[in-house]
Amino acid sequence: MQYPKAAGGAERHKMTKANDSYQKLEASYLFAGIARRVQEYTAANPDAKIVRLGIGDVTEPLAPAVVKAMAAAVREQGRRETFRGYGPEQGYAFLREAIAENDYAKRGVKVSPSEIFVSDGAKCDTGNFQELFDRRSTVAVPDPVYPVYVDTNVMAGRTGRQRNGRYGRIVYLDSVRENGFVPEPPSVHADIAYLCFPNNPTGAVATRRQLKKWVDWALREGSVILFDAAYEAFIRTPGVPHSIFEIPGARKCAVEFRSFSKTAGFTGTRCGFTVVPEGLEIEGGDGRPVRLHSMWMRRQTTKFNGCSYVTQRGAEAVYSPEGAAQTKKTIDFYLENARLIREALLRKGYAATGGTDSPYIWTDVGGDSWAFFDKLLREAQVVTTPGAGFGRAGEGFIRISAFNSRANVLEAIRRLEKAL
Ligand code: MLT
Repeated sequence: MQYPKAAGGAERHKMTKANDSYQKLEASYLFAGIARRVQEYTAANPDAKIVRLGIGDVTEPLAPAVVKAMAAAVREQGRRETFRGYGPEQGYAFLREAIAENDYAKRGVKVSPSEIFVSDGAKCDTGNFQELFDRRSTVAVPDPVYPVYVDTNVMAGRTGRQRNGRYGRIVYLDSVRENGFVPEPPSVHADIAYLCFPNNPTGAVATRRQLKKWVDWALREGSVILFDAAYEAFIRTPGVPHSIFEIPGARKCAVEFRSFSKTAGFTGTRCGFTVVPEGLEIEGGDGRPVRLHSMWMRRQTTKFNGCSYVTQRGAEAVYSPEGAAQTKKTIDFYLENARLIREALLRKGYAATGGTDSPYIWTDVGGDSWAFFDKLLREAQVVTTPGAGFGRAGEGFIRISAFNSRANVLEAIRRLEKAL
């Protein structure tokens, strides 16, 4: 190949080498690819009134209690006497204490504020956490799956190339109708397993018994479960676990990720947290145990300067009596959207699951999911997410998100009823 000339005209024989693992990825991230398709459609059809039920982005404004707390924090930042510069990388104690008390202690779960790491969201944390594991570690994921778990392991060089929609060296666990979209632990060893309940994209929830099987498996195998509970606040069915730490033994094998994005409308405000139990150990390069907590602390203090003070004051207000009531009301509103969408699909004869403890409705369209996505975009101007985008076992399904205004949801239902 022809190398470009170096400065001064001399022939250059080398170029900086890229991380070749990026070549294994799909050209664009799922939701970026969908946004591009929608943009192309709107450019060609400028009068189309698109209803977006694709990416799970909230539409309802922040709760008044959150706005009030953030406004007060902004005023503090505007006065010399109360101004704060860099905050603690792990997050302010006032927020970590509120989380430990309200999300865990009130449910009878012991999580210490020192085990909580506040961040700018669960996407970053679920994407970054894999850095702490050896490059040769094997990874198990359900299929379909939130693409961040897979793509970040591909980027890290932990997988082979993609063939027939699956990367080499990843253990895929089919989440299908037959297992109620909750896969059993694998029969083979995996060092790391990603789980997400309530599930994105299928909306399925895992029972205590099902999660216990996973925890028992991880303890037996010496594996680590990375548990994404970003949609926990949508659980309404009594008895469904809200946290992996409700399962005995989980503190020895699991890390949990949470987010204020869907819970309190923070997709644009950005705040989440990760719980890393103090006693959770993996094997260091010298064969001696190392604590994931110390490693994540080292990682965060090096690469992250914390979530803003104003945002953390807003997140703290989610736990105040007014904040909790206001955010619950918003989640109830989205759940009602979900019910309306699910029932409309069922009336049309589509098998639709999810949407009861989750904002996502997983709909069996019985064919090519990208073709169905295109049909709905063209004929109803409704944006959904094709199941195939979440993995091979998602083919034949589309995911419909309940995050939108009631007027838009009713309009989408009207158009879907006509188009289907
Ligand atoms: C989704 O639509 O799956 C989510 O909005 C993605 C995310 O939370 O990053």
